[in-house]
Amino acid sequence: MPSGPGERSVRPRVDRHLFVVFGATGDLMRRKLLPALYEVARTVAPDRGPVFHLLGCARARLDDSRFRRQAASAIVRAGLATPAEATAWVAARVEYHALGDGGPDDYRRLRTRIEAIEGEHGLPGNRVFYLALPAGAVPAAVDSVGDAGLAEGPGWTRLVVEKPFGTDLASAERLNRCLHRHFPERAIYRIDHYLGKETVQNLIVFRFANMLFESVWSRDRISHVEITVAEQLGVEDRARYYDGAGALRDMVQSHLTQLLSLTAMEVPSSLDADAVRNEKVKALQAVETLGPDGLVRGQYGAGRLGGKTVRGYREEEGIRRDSSTETYVALRLYLNNWRWQGVPFFLRTGKRLPEKRTEIVVHFRRPPVWFFPGPSPREISANTLTVTLQPREGFELAFEIKRPGHAIELETHRLHFLYSEAFGPLADAYQTLLVDLLRGDPTLFVRADEVEEAWRIYGPVLRRPPRLRRYAAGTWGPTDARRLPAELGHQWSSD
Ligand code: BG6
Repeated sequence: MPSGPGERSVRPRVDRHLFVVFGATGDLMRRKLLPALYEVARTVAPDRGPVFHLLGCARARLDDSRFRRQAASAIVRAGLATPAEATAWVAARVEYHALGDGGPDDYRRLRTRIEAIEGEHGLPGNRVFYLALPAGAVPAAVDSVGDAGLAEGPGWTRLVVEKPFGTDLASAERLNRCLHRHFPERAIYRIDHYLGKETVQNLIVFRFANMLFESVWSRDRISHVEITVAEQLGVEDRARYYDGAGALRDMVQSHLTQLLSLTAMEVPSSLDADAVRNEKVKALQAVETLGPDGLVRGQYGAGRLGGKTVRGYREEEGIRRDSSTETYVALRLYLNNWRWQGVPFFLRTGKRLPEKRTEIVVHFRRPPVWFFPGPSPREISANTLTVTLQPREGFELAFEIKRPGHAIELETHRLHFLYSEAFGPLADAYQTLLVDLLRGDPTLFVRADEVEEAWRIYGPVLRRPPRLRRYAAGTWGPTDARRLPAELGHQWSSD
């Protein structure tokens, strides 16, 4: 992997560049990007001087000093620096450019400004264009950057796009066509922040560096796989976006499908970015298109969570009172390939569930013959491997042992590994991805064909009006979701 713990302990080398952010006065910049850039600047090794200069762009008519004050306070609020440290940091590298209406002249002026900053600071012409914009504003911004002749610079140029990448296959294809009109695929970095999580990257090491697991990783030994991304949070302050998207688009098509492809992919020929992504795409190509029988959608109503009463989805601020947007999805998928034929993958995600938990549970088959006294094999727990991605990153292997004593009595026990015990706190996913972006390693970014293949799986169910089940906040989702594993004699690990 590009950023294994070993490599991260040495300071990654990064070329000096200009980091241009569109949407620089927005929430993403304040909450995530600025704090992550502040940390990244400390962890990468510049040749000399600041490794990047930061040019914030947005419509607002701010001057440099007002933008710098905003930027400094975002860094202070993130608890990363004192006001004096943050002020000095931004003074050394942050500037602002008001984009006005974003017409061709505005972008020509932007180009002149970029060249002036590069000249002033002796930057070699390497550029990142980071689109921290609402999805609807992305195509116009990409066209404007391209038409202003900024898609190719004197050094390298990289374009960063945040999810959502379209709302269905057709819109994702349109977006990809727009990006490719101006940028080659190798210059495009699509961010799915789940790929920056240490434990998600570790799935590749765990599977392919351990003969023990890889040798049992197939339909011969595995009965079914569960992938759960449970959140306690509700819709928070993103009502407008979320009510138009829903859990299937917001979480399943991106994060859960990434976890699915990393769990199911074949061994790549190397750790090269395209070798890894080729295998992920091949896994997705094997996934059967989802039909309505394999899907349950739900929406939370009021309930008790964390000792408090919380409102139902339709009572949340900014949500339509008759909204039919799902806040919960459970689904059953199959992969049509030699490794996974017949093995169901159960995926679920929801807001306002009892706890925040992201995990992959691999359920192994039960022994074919049972000669122990006591319960029959259908009643004992089968071996499971639980990979916990958050909050307690690590894994746990459950197995049967004999209880000490004269009788043969079985009991389930667990071996566990916790990242926090071995390594302390883990790096933020955003920082990991930013370092890889600055190093020019696209392995942990989503390729155009991955996005399209993921939309293909969910196409037919996205076109149907959702049949919504209600669930109370603080529960594990609609009871109907039990049907998906139950029809095959299984059940969700937590319910
Ligand atoms: C985002 C979704 O991509 O991921 C949010 O848009 C969701 O709705 C978030 O809350 C979850 O991320 P994490 O890292 O907290 O699991």
